[in-house]
Amino acid sequence: MASFTPNRSTMFFFLVILATVFVSAAGVAASDSEHGRVLEEDQNIRYRVDDSELPNVYYGICMYAREQRPCRRVMATIPDLKFKLSGQVELAELLSHVIANRTAEAKALADPLLAAAEEKGGKLPTCLVFCAESLDEVSEVMSGLPEDIDVEKYPKVQSFLRKMFESGADPPLCQRCCPDKTSTADEAAVAEKFHAIWALMDCAETLGQYYVLPPPPPPKR
Ligand SMILES: *[C@@H]1O[C@H](CO)[C@@H](O)[C@H](O)[C@H]1NC(C)=O
Repeated sequence: MASFTPNRSTMFFFLVILATVFVSAAGVAASDSEHGRVLEEDQNIRYRVDDSELPNVYYGICMYAREQRPCRRVMATIPDLKFKLSGQVELAELLSHVIANRTAEAKALADPLLAAAEEKGGKLPTCLVFCAESLDEVSEVMSGLPEDIDVEKYPKVQSFLRKMFESGADPPLCQRCCPDKTSTADEAAVAEKFHAIWALMDCAETLGQYYVLPPPPPPKR
């Protein structure tokens, strides 16, 4: 009768396989919960907020936005916004960081989806391509901003926002056309995230003047 007695090297391979399974299972669990959290935020953005219940502060903040309703809704998703506000400059600063953070989150969702689609070959999902492009564009300008408004990076934020919301300029394709009926749930989540970022940018644009520091006062004689 043949019996199986594991020698050292089979034991070793067994352990390696066990470790691999364990590590990849942990990885899946972690990315699942991150994904879950991001999706939950999307739900909040879309459904939690009943416009008529919003405090007046959001009406004030969004008064000059192009699209006031989405602006108010997205403002309501910023935790403790009311308590963080001490003025327009602080709001402008806060919004730039919120935009940067949400863009990073949306990219963390979009980039792996796009990479997987590219690996699969064939036609890439249109909306995913549009939205990933838009997210890259925002990320390039808004990521890694210093805590406080400076003279180097923030003026670029101002000119970027100005250009995006120039009168007569069409919103990006991700905003206008996505998600579409070909979008999977994940792709739709990416598009919805970009819509929320767009609404934040719409509001930040109205505060654009604060991204440029006033010139220092002339020296006293
Ligand atoms: C953005 O993310 C950083 C790092 O996670 C965090 O420290 C910061 O509080 C966030 N800012 C906002 C405004 O959400």
